[in-house]
Amino acid sequence: MDLFTRKTQKLPPPEHIAIIMDGNGRWAKKRGLPRTAGHAAGAETFRRIATYCRSIGVKYLTVYAFSTENWKRSREEVECIMALFEKYLHEAIDEMEQDHIRLKVLGDLSRISPELRALIERTAEISTHYDGFQANVCINYGGRDEIVHAARRFAAQCAAGEKKPEELTEEAFGGLLYTAGIPDPELIIRPSGEERVSNFLLWQSAYSEYYFTDVLWPDFDERELDRAIAAYHKRDRRFGGVKK
Ligand code: FPP
Repeated sequence: MDLFTRKTQKLPPPEHIAIIMDGNGRWAKKRGLPRTAGHAAGAETFRRIATYCRSIGVKYLTVYAFSTENWKRSREEVECIMALFEKYLHEAIDEMEQDHIRLKVLGDLSRISPELRALIERTAEISTHYDGFQANVCINYGGRDEIVHAARRFAAQCAAGEKKPEELTEEAFGGLLYTAGIPDPELIIRPSGEERVSNFLLWQSAYSEYYFTDVLWPDFDERELDRAIAAYHKRDRRFGGVKK
């Protein structure tokens, strides 16, 4: 189903779409370019897909931009990705105020430079004034790391006498994660032909539908997103129950 068909059929988009932005390096290699050129192209694709998500009524878009494992890459590549985040956040601040959109960074920010952290805090602060479309960019994010952080926070609350172990429910635990207040994603997309979860949204993806495509992230476009949404609509979501 293509863009035109999906729009005419008026299938509602998922409220929350999450994407593992994979394939930037291979995209660059295919063109004889440095990996950093792939990340620059990937950042443009993020901008384009975020704009499209907003236009079709998606409420939340969460992208995996830098994992807790990505520090293993060369210094040059890590610095390039961090510089892209800085550039993007700078530009996003004006757009947020103009279009009333929210932008949050999810992850462990303790390893992030003070300059980038200041920008992240600024976008978080601006976001509190709005309730429109929300983009979540996961930076130094790992699903296991997020769960450990949440468990530590709860343990600290128990040690301080503020909470009792039996007060911990699934809902309360969800409120201690980086994604507190954000509904779980209905659809998770991974481009580039890899079919792995790679430590992304481990808690939140309990009932998410996955969509895999061979397209490399910089080549991913509106039509590809429509295909993913159309595939999602064909799934039979039972949440552990039985078909009616
Ligand atoms: C995975 O592809 C991509 C990354 C680890 C970096 C993602 C970063 C961006 C898209 C740029 C900045 C983003 C924003 C939100 C401004 P890969 O490098 O693992 O590709 P490969 O598997 O082909 O090598």
